[in-house]
Amino acid sequence: MKQMKRSTTCGALSSADVGKTVVLNGWVHRKRDHGGISFINLRDRYGVTQVVVDADADDSLKAVVAELRNEFCIAIQGSVRARPDTMVNKDMATGAIEVVTQKLEILTRSEVLPFQIDENSDAKEELRLKYRYLDLRSGGMQRRLKLRNDVAFAVREHMISEGFYEIETPTFIKSTPEGARDYLVPSRLYPGKFYALPQSPQLYKQLLMVSGFDKYFQLARCYRDEDARGDRQPEFTQIDIEMSFVGRDDVLAMTERLFSHVFKKTMNLELPAQFRRITYEDALELYGSDKPDLRYEMLMQDFGPYVEKSGFQAFKDALAEGKAEQQRQAANGVTIAGGGVKALVVPGKADYSRKQIEELEAAAKIYKAKGMAWMKVSAGAEGKAGLEGGASKFFTENAAELISGLGAKVGDLILLVADAKRSIANIALGAVRSKLGRDLGFCDPKRFEFAWIVDFPMFEYNEEAQRWDTAHHMFTWPQEQYHATLESDPGSVKGDLYDLVLNGFELASGSIRIHDPALQKRIFKIVGFDEADGEKKFGFLTESFKYGAPPHGGIAPGLDRLVMIMAGETSIKEVIAFPKNSFAVSPMDEAPSEVDQQQLDDLHLSVRYPEQH
Ligand code: AMO
Repeated sequence: MKQMKRSTTCGALSSADVGKTVVLNGWVHRKRDHGGISFINLRDRYGVTQVVVDADADDSLKAVVAELRNEFCIAIQGSVRARPDTMVNKDMATGAIEVVTQKLEILTRSEVLPFQIDENSDAKEELRLKYRYLDLRSGGMQRRLKLRNDVAFAVREHMISEGFYEIETPTFIKSTPEGARDYLVPSRLYPGKFYALPQSPQLYKQLLMVSGFDKYFQLARCYRDEDARGDRQPEFTQIDIEMSFVGRDDVLAMTERLFSHVFKKTMNLELPAQFRRITYEDALELYGSDKPDLRYEMLMQDFGPYVEKSGFQAFKDALAEGKAEQQRQAANGVTIAGGGVKALVVPGKADYSRKQIEELEAAAKIYKAKGMAWMKVSAGAEGKAGLEGGASKFFTENAAELISGLGAKVGDLILLVADAKRSIANIALGAVRSKLGRDLGFCDPKRFEFAWIVDFPMFEYNEEAQRWDTAHHMFTWPQEQYHATLESDPGSVKGDLYDLVLNGFELASGSIRIHDPALQKRIFKIVGFDEADGEKKFGFLTESFKYGAPPHGGIAPGLDRLVMIMAGETSIKEVIAFPKNSFAVSPMDEAPSEVDQQQLDDLHLSVRYPEQH
């Protein structure tokens, strides 16, 4: 029999088509039989149409229908009729009509499915990944991959409209030090030599600036051998961007225009013309994170001023220890923050149970807090607010002062973390803030709160190695006002670095780059990078800068993370067609796999297995 080719799709028919004869192709989503009438929900990428086989249909047609099971791929020919008023389904795009079948052909049959193809399927992730091609049939995955397609298209549309060229860069490159471990590809022609897969096109996009392609972008595949997390995959896609003759604010404004276009085009949402800017230091002090979730405020406050008058020895010790270390480091010319006691006022949560508070403390301990103190604000004598429970006994002297200083109200819960390292107090209490945001339902997936984090420190002191490291990468431009004091006070230098954060995720990061070979040499020297080593590793880039490199800078938003957040998901696997699981394995094709001895021989490789193998 000649296959019946579809004349329309399963998402297209409406009341306007009543009376037409149509052919549909698709999958049996559900089949129900009601008193001799069969209803088939026929599904394709575009939607679902109700197909009816009436009670008076031919016996031969009924016999074929009797054979149908879920996910059979079929073709039907029939006529479109209006559903009776009581049967109209307003939740379905095609809910006003149904198609009365005249002919039905089974194109292919399906075996019993490993799981039901359903929006609300509770199939385990491992099974979903093993049969990913079936999982991708679900409405949710189809919608998310459509969103990904729409976002990618909107990105290209916008970038090209602003005069950017999309230029591909190689995926077999020289291994150069970046943040993570490289994936390596052995060379058959050159025994003992390897290509690396790019962690990002960073060096190439800078070279393109030297070549005069002053506005570059690329939807670039990147590869990093690092531990998996909800928002990380070993291979992922960046919207990689670089521009010449720009300063920081030009890159930020271009990115704001890009996201405004993408959100308007794909979700019909207006974003603010400018995103708020928060310094790195404020982000850590106020939110305890360099990627704060700004869908809720709940700012952290400095509790240091209330410690002196209190009887809380542990807090006093933390501050004293922090101060002593700060003085020790200052003597070596290294500026560090000292200790810190930070407070979080949780509105109306004085009724939290001990167990709930312990769960919050556990979140703080993951980030190295030694513990978390708490007190509740209660209605004290003469209607004045007082403190009770937990650490309140240490603050009898200055209860009123601290309650009003923190802006706390009766019924609030106060949480406190102290540490001799201020960053630990900040980050640990920041983790508590994040948990509270989730627990209290503040994380509305339909709200999108962007912010720039700016003024990152240029260098980090590596206590173990007793030297300075660059906080981002070695090509970041130190802000102009610090050029004179780079060597004398590296700890105070801020880089022209920026991250874009969205709903608690780092969505993008970028910087203005160094284009001056002399400045580059100074940076190499500060981090103790041997010049010969620098030449060997980045020689081609530093060499190129000898030939009139333009001032340049760029940014790289993660496409997977962007679509994940837009889709209201918390795992990037939900927006990638064929992702790896948390162990960097693809359960479907079983990559990575062993290879033939011959392939290893061709590559001049022999495998040394770990002991336990
Ligand atoms: P960075 O390493 O910060 O910067 O990466 C930029 C953005 O890429 C995304 N991203 C990831 N997404 C999924 N899985 C991963 N494993 C992963 N790693 C990173 C994030 C991140 O914000 N070359 C610089 C950019 C520049 O300076 O222009 C870079 O790669 O969204």
